[in-house]
Parts: sequence; C-alpha cells; structure tokens
Amino acid sequence: MQFNSITQKLHDWYGENKRLLPFRDTEDPYKIWLSEVMLQQTQVNTVLPYYNKWIKRFPTISSVANEKLDTVLKYWEGLGYYKRCINFYKAIRIIKDDFHCKIPNNRKNFILLPGVGEYTASAVLSIAFKKPYPVLDVNVKRVMSRMLGIKNLTRHNEKRIMVHLNKMIFKDNPGDFNQAMMDLGSLLCKSSNPLCSKCPLRTNCYAYRNNKSDKYPNKIKTKTLPHYDISIGIIWRENKFYIQKRNLKSMLGGLWEFPGGKIKPGESAKVALKREIREECGVSIKNINKIGIVKHSYSHFKITLYCFYCREKKDSLELNNNAKMITINEIKNFPFPKANHKIFELFKQSQFYV
Ligand code: ADE
Repeated sequence: MQFNSITQKLHDWYGENKRLLPFRDTEDPYKIWLSEVMLQQTQVNTVLPYYNKWIKRFPTISSVANEKLDTVLKYWEGLGYYKRCINFYKAIRIIKDDFHCKIPNNRKNFILLPGVGEYTASAVLSIAFKKPYPVLDVNVKRVMSRMLGIKNLTRHNEKRIMVHLNKMIFKDNPGDFNQAMMDLGSLLCKSSNPLCSKCPLRTNCYAYRNNKSDKYPNKIKTKTLPHYDISIGIIWRENKFYIQKRNLKSMLGGLWEFPGGKIKPGESAKVALKREIREECGVSIKNINKIGIVKHSYSHFKITLYCFYCREKKDSLELNNNAKMITINEIKNFPFPKANHKIFELFKQSQFYV
C-alpha cells in the first residue's frame, strides 16, 4: 500500500467534500463529545435537531451538571438508546466534581468515564485534542474492508485494519482523518450502490479493481425482532393520570411510562391489565375502557400496546418521586419513550374522563 498517496488523496477529497456540521465548527471538547455520543447508532440527519436544541439549552458542562437527570433526558426524548444520555450525564457530573469541569485530554482518564468506550475515546481525543487515534466505526470498517479486500470483519481482521489506519492517519490532524473516513463511508462507499466512480481512493481499492465492491464486507444477517403484546392502563383521578418512572437499570431506564405489562398466552388484554396493575401498583381497577392500539418498533423489539382508560377502585395508588399523577399539560415536563407519544395522540380522540 502506498500510504502517502492514499493519505494525500483523502486529505484533498475531505477538503472539498467535508460535510458542514455544527459540531465541526467548534473546538469545544464538550460539544464534540456530545455529538459523538448522539451519533452512536444514529444517522447524522437524525442527530442534528437534537444536537442543536441541546447545545442551546445546555451550552456548557456546568449547565448539564447542575440539572436533574429528568430535565436532561427530556432533551434526548425520541433519540433512543437512552443509556447514552444517562451515562453522558453521569460522566459530566464526574467531570464537574473531579476534574473542575475540564474534560481529560488523555485516554487513561477519559476512557474510565461512564459510557466512554474505545470508539468514543478515539473520536473525541482525535477531534478535540488532535491525538493520533484512528476510529473504527461501521463506515470506516466498510471502506477498509473494500480497500484491503478483507471480507470478514473478525476481531483479528479488525486488528489488521487498525494497523493500516495507524499508518494512514493524518499526523497533523487525526480528527480530520477520522471524519474524512467516516464521510467517505457514508457519502460514497455506501453499503449498497457505492459511488465508486467518485471515490478518490478507487485506484487503491481491491474491491473496486476486481469489480466486487458489493461483495465486501460480508453481510451479517440481521435477526428478526421479537414482538410483545402489552396491556397498559391510564389510571385517571379527576383531571390527572398516573405515570411511573422506569428503573434506571432497565431498557428505556429513567423514562416515564404507564403501568402494565405483557399479555400471557391465552389471556385477554383486559385480564392482563388488571393482573399487571395489581402486581405493579398494588391496586384494583374499575371502569376499564379500551381507547385504542398502538404499534411501535424499538431497536431491539416490537410492541403492540393495548391501551385502556381506567380508575382505581379506591384512591390508593402510592405517589412518590418515581410515581406521579400529572395533567395533560404536564406531559412536556417528563421524558417518555416514543410509543407513549403515540398513546398521547389517542388521548385526543378519546373522551377525557372515564
Ligand atoms: N459519525 C460519528 N461521528 C461522526 C463524525 N464526527 N462525522 C461524521 N460522521 C460521524
């Protein structure tokens, strides 16, 4: 491999084609880190409005650290993979308490923070602090698989790719190198229909020269998502309804939800609702009225929610920090999973009180 010429071609291509993104307009490690966390498993276009709103509301580390997790999570609502936000928040609190609001610029300390793995450490340290760490995300892996003719992205082969990246990286601006590789992967070296004729590295590319770009890398079969039928209850008391906070350790942890749970085989949605609410909240319910069905796909599973209005038999729901009665106007103050916003839409079509 002629690393000098590849590096030069990539450098020139990036100079002319780099995407103009708000987090490329800053040297603030906090903003760069936030963008990298938001960009994990998420497309740039999806991230942009969240990033912009977040930075407007929380422009500095201390503006995040001084808020409650609920307030911060509200700005992540809809972006998914909420653990990213919870970990980022925890890490920011540590930066405030232990590092005087200064993000560590060395790998040893930075990687110890919650949610910071190999990818995030390399991305942030290279972009914000010009440290020479190549990143290996899904786009970079695809580019290198085609260029080197490496079909299977095994651990061993990823290590081989890393050796090459370490030789190719721009010594004066490693962050630009990483972002150039990521842009090349997402703009040209796409997984299907790659735009090889526009690629600055095509003459160095094994797959292109052998007319096999679509064969690299080997596709990993995606599993079909499991599906769950779930009953949920909107328990009204006057003009308020009951919500509870999901356990921080669970999926969608830290977000708010309605009580309910999985319908067992052979069980009706209504019977499941009564059982689940007795088990979860310790109350019996009455005046049960179905208001509709909501379907939603999360990253790891799909759900069908059977939604019911109901009331407590006695006003015996226990309220505390993790269990509240709120009005419709207060929905905006609490972070909810995406499917819940579809349930709120049902509210508009249903009679208000049961
Ligand atoms: N994906 C993750 N981080 C990125 C970045 N800094 N630029 C482009 N795509 C990315």
